[in-house]
Amino acid sequence: MEKREELYSGKAKSVYRTDDPELMVMEFRNDTSAFDGKKVEQLDRKGMVNNKFNAFIMQKLADAGIPTHFVKLLSDTDSLVKRLEMIPVECVVRNVAAGSICRRYGVQEGMDLNPPTFEFFLKNDALGDPMVNDYHIKSFGWATEEQVARAKELTFAVNDVLKKLFSDAGMLLVDYKLEFGMSEGQLVLGDEFSPDGCRIWDKETRKKLDKDRFRQGLGGVIEAYEEVGQRLGIQFD
Ligand code: C5P
Repeated sequence: MEKREELYSGKAKSVYRTDDPELMVMEFRNDTSAFDGKKVEQLDRKGMVNNKFNAFIMQKLADAGIPTHFVKLLSDTDSLVKRLEMIPVECVVRNVAAGSICRRYGVQEGMDLNPPTFEFFLKNDALGDPMVNDYHIKSFGWATEEQVARAKELTFAVNDVLKKLFSDAGMLLVDYKLEFGMSEGQLVLGDEFSPDGCRIWDKETRKKLDKDRFRQGLGGVIEAYEEVGQRLGIQFD
């Protein structure tokens, strides 16, 4: 599948048109950003690691019956995906308190959240991705009641699959962010699932193995991503 002109370039990925209007190429770059793009660095191997990580997870989710936009790996850094009409909200599930929820509500990092909690955020860097509720999404016309319900249902279905996958490999899936879009009348998981968009801790030591290593300047960012991948059985070379 030939990569044609760039359609969109985000903070860590670029999307290209192909000759098929229903398919696009998603390129994972080495750019790494945090704090709404205020901290940006190039991390060697990140594009390749996240592309292969995402392919592995998307395949696991598809095997579990979750519809995703992922079609196939094209190269170390490129994947073929279905074109979706994206819904401009981020769906976050949290199994353990970390990050913004601790700052917002004064809860201790590491607190078990039972049941896991769910939050929607508006995808808008200029506004700092504010948290929004179901009514905002429906009233502003970003999605229908049915799409909102399905996005929640699929985000929790992903939790069932991935919590077990990480746990069986000695890791804790703390939280993650998903994005959805429409394809042929169906809500489909889009974007990516990689250590850039979730939190993963070692189950025993609680060592952080995700983008918090970059956000917090802990070092060993890509080494941690690769460790997570290797524990899941992903081949990077
Ligand atoms: O920052 P916060 O604690 O709200 O993030 C929750 C989860 O969503 C984290 O795993 C984070 O990496 C992810 N996230 C993301 N992109 C954003 C905001 C959050 O991937 N724009």
